[in-house]
Amino acid sequence: MTAAVKVDIARLSAELEELAGFTDSPAPSVTRILFTATDRAAREFFKQCCRETGLLIREDAVGNIFGRWVGSDPQASAVGTGSHTDAIPNSGRYDGTVGVFGGLEAIRALRAAGHKPRRSIELLMFTAEEPTRYGIGCLGSRLLSGTLSPAAATALRDGSGTSLDEARAECGFRGDLATVALAAGYYETFVELHIEQGPLLEKEGLAIGIVEAIAAPASMRVVFHGQGGHAGTVMMPDRRDALLGAAELALAVDRAARATGSPSTVGTVGVMQPFPGAINSIPSRCTIEIDVRDTALEPRDAAVEEILSGARAIAERRGLTVGIQMLNADPPATCGTAVVEAVARASAQLGIPSRRMVSRAYHDSLFMARVCPTGMIFIPCRDGVSHRPDEYSSPEEIRRGVEVLALTLAELSG
Ligand code: HGY
Ligand code: MN
Ligand code: MN
Repeated sequence: MTAAVKVDIARLSAELEELAGFTDSPAPSVTRILFTATDRAAREFFKQCCRETGLLIREDAVGNIFGRWVGSDPQASAVGTGSHTDAIPNSGRYDGTVGVFGGLEAIRALRAAGHKPRRSIELLMFTAEEPTRYGIGCLGSRLLSGTLSPAAATALRDGSGTSLDEARAECGFRGDLATVALAAGYYETFVELHIEQGPLLEKEGLAIGIVEAIAAPASMRVVFHGQGGHAGTVMMPDRRDALLGAAELALAVDRAARATGSPSTVGTVGVMQPFPGAINSIPSRCTIEIDVRDTALEPRDAAVEEILSGARAIAERRGLTVGIQMLNADPPATCGTAVVEAVARASAQLGIPSRRMVSRAYHDSLFMARVCPTGMIFIPCRDGVSHRPDEYSSPEEIRRGVEVLALTLAELSG
């Protein structure tokens, strides 16, 4: 099988290039937010490519897309692979897409090599891996794994007040969200190909990362309320400026993440929105969104606790009120040995240098690991850059990742 697997990297690169054209921001950046026209166009493009490959396509009530290569034992639990094509504002063209279209290319290469899977191989494009529109990441895989309840999903509203139900119905997804959760034993194993989004592989001159664990993400939305007023006529002692509360909290996030004693704790404030947002108006309200992670729960939760008590103390001191909403606080995932070893064997068989590592970014695999043994294959990305327009993995790096994925799928699908 090894020699026969031939990845058509020219075709895959052309598909990634075409996919990058579905964006709401100028090239080379990519912005593709859940259920926008660009997201819908990208979904149609992906389904067309699956149809041309002869996969059986279905979509569930939240828009997860499944392309199935039916195996000789169609009743057996399937082998899943895939990732996401949605992209945060002003980001890159390889995050997620390499796992979706690379998964398709791995299937095409296996078919061309004459592989006959016993277990069906199913390619997934997950809905909303990114948290941009509804504030919570991995919406599709959370519902698939039963981690997010249909009721909690129905309660989600985006920044303009549009509910998830309204947005998905506009795309024709009207089914009951209770039908999304996978039946027990639906997948035997799951494996995701993804760019590393970090510098390790490139620094060590390695082509493949064999992921053994996925970091634990937590995020929260904090809203400070103060008193608005005229920038020229409200004297400093009389002010209750909501933005200053948020600004102090942002610095507290940075301090808390550096103080846990764990080098893996990270804390980020990526969103800060003062209201009304005019230069000569004292902010009466300020919303701040905070992302805290670690590969271990204890330091992450210590940082979260520190941040939340800091928010209350800042509000007290500045005469503000504060509202705190935990958006998610997920445990880390350990990858399934069967999949980790299959990836290691595939890399060795191909003579590709690899290392075992953790994923500091989260992925849909964080939730697929709750339904079956799950693993990830990383490829290097230039300077470790991601979530930026200059995110880049070379055709050769992508080709080798797809080769390893193909051999891994061949082994897992028997
Ligand atoms: O934020 C993450 O870790 C992922 O890229 N959505
Ligand atoms: Mn991402
Ligand atoms: Mn991703």
